[in-house]
Amino acid sequence: MTKRDILSVADFAAGEAEQLVKKTIKSKNEAWPQVLAGKSIALLFEKPSLRTRMSFELAVHHLGGYAIYMSPEEIGLGKRESVPDVAHVLSRYVQGAVARTFLHRTLETMAEYASIPVINALSDYEHPCQALADLVTIYERKGKFKGLNLAFIGDGNNVANSLLIACAMVGINFLIATPQEYSIQDNVLRIANKYAEQTDSHIMLLEEPAMAAKDADVIYTDVWTSMGQEEEYEQRRIAFAEYQVNEKLLSYAKKDVIVMHPLPAHHGEEVAVGIIDKYRSVIFDQAENRLHFQRTLLAELYK
Ligand code: CP
Ligand code: NVA
Repeated sequence: MTKRDILSVADFAAGEAEQLVKKTIKSKNEAWPQVLAGKSIALLFEKPSLRTRMSFELAVHHLGGYAIYMSPEEIGLGKRESVPDVAHVLSRYVQGAVARTFLHRTLETMAEYASIPVINALSDYEHPCQALADLVTIYERKGKFKGLNLAFIGDGNNVANSLLIACAMVGINFLIATPQEYSIQDNVLRIANKYAEQTDSHIMLLEEPAMAAKDADVIYTDVWTSMGQEEEYEQRRIAFAEYQVNEKLLSYAKKDVIVMHPLPAHHGEEVAVGIIDKYRSVIFDQAENRLHFQRTLLAELYK
């Protein structure tokens, strides 16, 4: 097995993302290959998690492997011990590391020094497994990618970065409405634009939520304050006040629009009270598809 890291959606080859989505859907009704039998995977989390931890632990279990979880208090990445030393030690014990870090740079350093695959379980920059699992949910609901309009409302954050690159890869038009100072960074836009040229998809950075939501097939939102930004909570609550997904905003979208959210959600902030419940079948499919996608990804990496 050759070492392959998944730190960004851009680590998937063009065409591979769509292939993995289709494989994931098929895998739900198939016997899972026991490719992790006799193997162990470390889960290193600097931040809390419900979905990512549960779905990765279960995915490892479904493939016959053993998952070892390390909590935020236990690791002390770069504090108790240097990141390169942690990477070297892990490489002697386990066959892969799934890591959730504050800084994306920490993941890059781990990947550089580890001789085992390192998978991004969310950093301040990207959340690639969320984005690919979300493509699974979109494909199941809409039966296609090309020509769909996805409106992202809110913060140009880690989830938005990964989703933008993923949409550009498969030909979904990505319209994002953010306050100007919370827009997508130029480097992410450059990467996404390269894919968008190949798939003919459109990327639009907007400030007006209603403009992004117009004729949307998918309306997507995420928290205004991500983990690690807690001290900015008040400032962000004010900046994003007009960026709530509510019935009025949904009225601009197509009739069969679906609302998506990676969760955890703050009811009454980025989503009006009642919206998560109204669209729960899609939103909890999203959570479930994390498991199916990550099992497919691990099966691919360890085949
Ligand atoms: N969506 C997501 O990554 O959830 P957790 O933070 O609970 O893992
Ligand atoms: N943007 C959020 C996503 C949580 C899954 C965060 O980073 O906290």
